[in-house]
Amino acid sequence: MDYGLKNRLSRMVKPATGRSVMLACDHGYFMGPTTRLENPRKTIAPLVQYADVVSVTRGVLRTSIDPAWDVPILLRVSGGTSMLQEDLSDEGLITSMKEALRLNATAVSISIFVGTKHEKQTLLNLSRLVDEGEENGMPVVAITAVGKELEKRDARYLALACRIAAELGAHIVKTYYCEGFSKVVAGCPVPLVVAGGPKMTTEADVFELAHGAISEGAAGVDMGRNIWQNDHPVAMLKAIRAIVHDGASVKEAVRVFDGAKSKRVSDSIPA
Ligand code: 5RP
Repeated sequence: MDYGLKNRLSRMVKPATGRSVMLACDHGYFMGPTTRLENPRKTIAPLVQYADVVSVTRGVLRTSIDPAWDVPILLRVSGGTSMLQEDLSDEGLITSMKEALRLNATAVSISIFVGTKHEKQTLLNLSRLVDEGEENGMPVVAITAVGKELEKRDARYLALACRIAAELGAHIVKTYYCEGFSKVVAGCPVPLVVAGGPKMTTEADVFELAHGAISEGAAGVDMGRNIWQNDHPVAMLKAIRAIVHDGASVKEAVRVFDGAKSKRVSDSIPA
């Protein structure tokens, strides 16, 4: 692996712990102005200093991420569908490698839709992106998207999708936590991070998910709604960091959350 690619990867997955807390803010590319991400800059600004990586599209990067903020960017480069479609799998590449380099992205992300009508197209998109990533020292994160078919979140399906992503050359795979997650990890030779999914009922539910994923071998999270749709997003992110980087238990994460939620959010907005 070349220096550039290795260097970019180590900016994402922190060498001190081998883990990463990625903040997913790329939902708008098919969901539009998602609740509490209507104004991306307002949502992201207080959180950025607690995230190892922020995941956005080029539009949000240019309009809502200050170039002076010192945070690695995971640039979403697949899309072309909207929530209005029944089938979300018909994705293409929406941003070129040249543009990703111009924007100084640290990595690029792309969804694959295994088991759907557009499986082949999305797998070929991934393969092409990996070729371009290798050529340019740019890591590729493959996202095993399940579209609206959330019932596909079982270990057998996710193990298949994650392994295919790794076989096609993805440097990191993003997937969902599920029962039997250790089987997904065992079959995937590159680091796995998990998404959070739709907002859960309690904070402890979110910490259970993150803790389960980390204890079963995930290298981190790429989480969005369960952080910024919470009334205390900074406290959520701090608690998730404690699980991912400090090995905190669910109980300890609840304590971190409770301790942090009383702090004023404006105290933590970067200058
Ligand atoms: C949007 C995505 C999101 O980045 C991913 O789902 C993580 O966010 P959340 O934790 O809100 O599920 O891929 O397409």
